[in-house]
Amino acid sequence: MSINFSSPKGFNRLENILIIGNGGRENSLAWAIQKNKLVKKVYLIPGNAGSERINKCERIKIDINNKNILVEKLDFLKIDLIVIGPEIPLANGLADFLREKDFKVFGPGKEGAKLEYSKSWAKEFMQGANIPTANFWKVNSLEEAKKIIHLSSIQLVVKADGLASGKGVFIPDSKDECIKAAESIFNGKFGDSGNIVVLEEKIQGPEVSVFALCDGERYILLPTAQDHKRLNEKDKGPNTGGMGAYSPAPLITEDDLERISKEIIEPTIDELNKKNIDYKGVIYFGLMITEYGPKVIEYNCRFGDPECQTIMPLMDQNFVFLLEKCAMGKLIGDEKIYISNKVSGCVIATSKGYPHEYETGFPIKIGEIDSSGCQIFDSGTSLDKNGELVTDGGRVLSIVCQEKDYDLVFKKAYKNLKKINFEGIYFRNDIGHQVRKNFFKEK
Ligand code: AMP
Ligand code: GLY
Repeated sequence: MSINFSSPKGFNRLENILIIGNGGRENSLAWAIQKNKLVKKVYLIPGNAGSERINKCERIKIDINNKNILVEKLDFLKIDLIVIGPEIPLANGLADFLREKDFKVFGPGKEGAKLEYSKSWAKEFMQGANIPTANFWKVNSLEEAKKIIHLSSIQLVVKADGLASGKGVFIPDSKDECIKAAESIFNGKFGDSGNIVVLEEKIQGPEVSVFALCDGERYILLPTAQDHKRLNEKDKGPNTGGMGAYSPAPLITEDDLERISKEIIEPTIDELNKKNIDYKGVIYFGLMITEYGPKVIEYNCRFGDPECQTIMPLMDQNFVFLLEKCAMGKLIGDEKIYISNKVSGCVIATSKGYPHEYETGFPIKIGEIDSSGCQIFDSGTSLDKNGELVTDGGRVLSIVCQEKDYDLVFKKAYKNLKKINFEGIYFRNDIGHQVRKNFFKEK
């Protein structure tokens, strides 16, 4: 990709940046943002134990729901730009609130976040704008669901309408399983998120994540990425938040991207505008490349994780300007972001038991890492009372590497990962198998 970027002229100070969130995604954003020389400090609320290992980063331990204290603190710190990482504060309208208080915010308001927090709304949105997606039925009761499931001659996917920490999607193998899934959702497995169920036609094809940074009208695409959602090798086992990723995704050519822009991205932004939704943030398009072309599986109103951890190391110091331009509604739309000529890959290490029950508090030992073109981003860690790094989440940390090809990327990632240990550490050995020429030889 191209290597030009005209720095925004006449922009305000960009000394103090705040990132809200506590995962690997937020640490990778901080890592990319701090590269810019204008940036003096990157604060994270709350961040995690890995945040302060990143240059210029400092954690702030305050509750974002305590609005008065939050605003007082941000005024005191003279925050120039706020980036909101996770979907829950976005769905709760935090971006709207902070904008009302005159902060520059990267992240959509409550109305825009609906793309993620209501699947039925998103499906109707796509239907209204003729955006390719799987056929669907929005149902309000188990009886209605059963009727559709019994009459259906196609395979169905069953989804809770609202946020469910990535656990609200069921891919049943039979009508019975479909009914059981709908039953569990209507019986309150996901609380109010399951008041509505979406039944969807099951579609087939490889998946790709596309991220559009949007200023309300214009957009810039980040490099594409492919996630690995299943827990186990060969894409088996339960769905997780993501076990690893690589970027860019060679599956998607420039021509494909043009088609995706024309058929999906531009109609999405036009439809948001038609609905008077001023979307300043990232739109994450979860796409499936079917035999009939690309279709939207889901929208998210935030960066994907681990995709974000994988993409951020490819960004140069101008990345923060893009976020600021989006927050200010001032993208030109043809900014050429510098993208490294390397490719990037990420492998996640999890706690034993994830994505189900798991224990935390195990000491993490990190040996000597080959750190050139390689980062460790913490997803779920904390410091114990002796200041020792311990596990504190399902996804614990990741190794992200950049090299000139994927064989080298994953060779380095796995070599480094061997130097990291904690009780019950688990990771997939086949991340990037689709793009590793030597994968079978390595085995
Ligand atoms: P979501 O949380 O909506 O991304 O769904 C989780 C995963 O379920 C996706 O990454 C897909 O692998 C799968 N999935 C969701 N919707 C469908 C569909 N309509 N057809 C086939 N697979 C789907
Ligand atoms: N990696 C998938 C997600 O962030 O939802």
